[in-house]
Amino acid sequence: MTKLNIAMIGYGFMGRAHSNAWRQVRSFFDVPYEPVLKAICGRNETQVKKFAARFGWQECATDWREVVTRPDIDLVDICSPGHTHAPIAIAAAAARKILFCEKPLANSLAEAEAMLKAAEDHGCVHMICHNYRRAPAVSLARELIEAGEIGNIYHYRATYLQDWLRNPEFPTRWRLNKSEAGSGALGDLFSHSVDLARYLVGEISELSAMLKTFVPQRPVSNTNNLAEVDVDDAALALVKFQNGAIGSIEATRYASGRKNFNRFEINGSKGSVAFNLERMNELEFYSDEGPNSGFKTIQATDPRHPYVSGWWPPGHIIGYEHTFTHTVLELLQALAEKRSPSPDFEDGVKNQRVLDAVERSSISRQWQTVG
Ligand SMILES: NC(=O)c1ccc[n+]([C@@H]2O[C@H](COP(=O)([O-])OP(=O)(O)OC[C@H]3O[C@@H](n4cnc5c(N)ncnc54)[C@H](O)[C@@H]3O)[C@@H](O)[C@H]2O)c1
Repeated sequence: MTKLNIAMIGYGFMGRAHSNAWRQVRSFFDVPYEPVLKAICGRNETQVKKFAARFGWQECATDWREVVTRPDIDLVDICSPGHTHAPIAIAAAAARKILFCEKPLANSLAEAEAMLKAAEDHGCVHMICHNYRRAPAVSLARELIEAGEIGNIYHYRATYLQDWLRNPEFPTRWRLNKSEAGSGALGDLFSHSVDLARYLVGEISELSAMLKTFVPQRPVSNTNNLAEVDVDDAALALVKFQNGAIGSIEATRYASGRKNFNRFEINGSKGSVAFNLERMNELEFYSDEGPNSGFKTIQATDPRHPYVSGWWPPGHIIGYEHTFTHTVLELLQALAEKRSPSPDFEDGVKNQRVLDAVERSSISRQWQTVG
């Protein structure tokens, strides 16, 4: 069993999700590596120590530069805001670490390309964390599509809806600041729908899009000040795929009542599949074949369904956190098989080209070519 010493940057939402995944993966799946939670890094010493004690990290740091080049670190896991991804990944690549980075890969296409180049120049294994690919029902959708069960794809229809910003009094945070987040709903939510589009349908070639900011200023917590909101609150696009399919992608943080409504429907010449993260153990499937017409709901919890054999008996459902365990499993399996994990930084760059085209289209009010 090869030990894999991990340094993680960031101990917020994704820091918790990734720490849990690294702790779980070896207990539930056969992997030839032992992930070691070696060093956790955050800016607040007291908080980072508390987090380390809770999740079992051996050491703490308050400056990522102290950890990413350490000779005893094998893998750098980037769970901090977008503006930190490129400098951390490029420094870690120069130190020849395995790179695992949260999405979107960076705050701009140029940064994302620089990250991919650094990873390739130094021969690093690299992966971006688009974890929804690894929900069993989504992986099953891919298997059905690859087996030709829905025929040639005509439509991809994705909505990623949340509502946490609809109150204008909700205070600002890094996600609403372009210099830290790069974009709003676009990089945060829309990028996930783009990844699923690329995973399930193919490459997007052209699009027409708009971005909208509904509330241009928000209170700064514990002050009487207001801060500018310079990112989008909603992103909306019509897309054309290289293979002739067409689609629509909508992402917003203002869809009252919708909490994490990450849904897609794909219609083909012989059938359809549909998925909604809020019912993530289920895949809706329609096929022209067989005696009964109409959609059926497949509960993707049988051992024959992707990833499920590692967990519980059929019908004993799994949740959001498991998608991260499956994502780090994919990384460990790829390391063992000496192949690039899926999705990797190249996928991150291709995704970022779509986000870049959305921004260009929103400004120009014209269709834009991707790439
Ligand atoms: N895969 C997903 O579904 C998913 C979900 C949420 C967020 N994300 C992505 O994960 C990343 C982090 O988002 P989050 O929701 O965990 O944010 P968060 O605000 O909950 O946590 C961010 C963490 O980064 C730390 N941090 C900030 N600047 C730092 C610096 N310079 N050095 C070291 N640490 C620093 C903060 O202290 C905090 O611990 C973002 O890129 C975001 O887009 C992905």
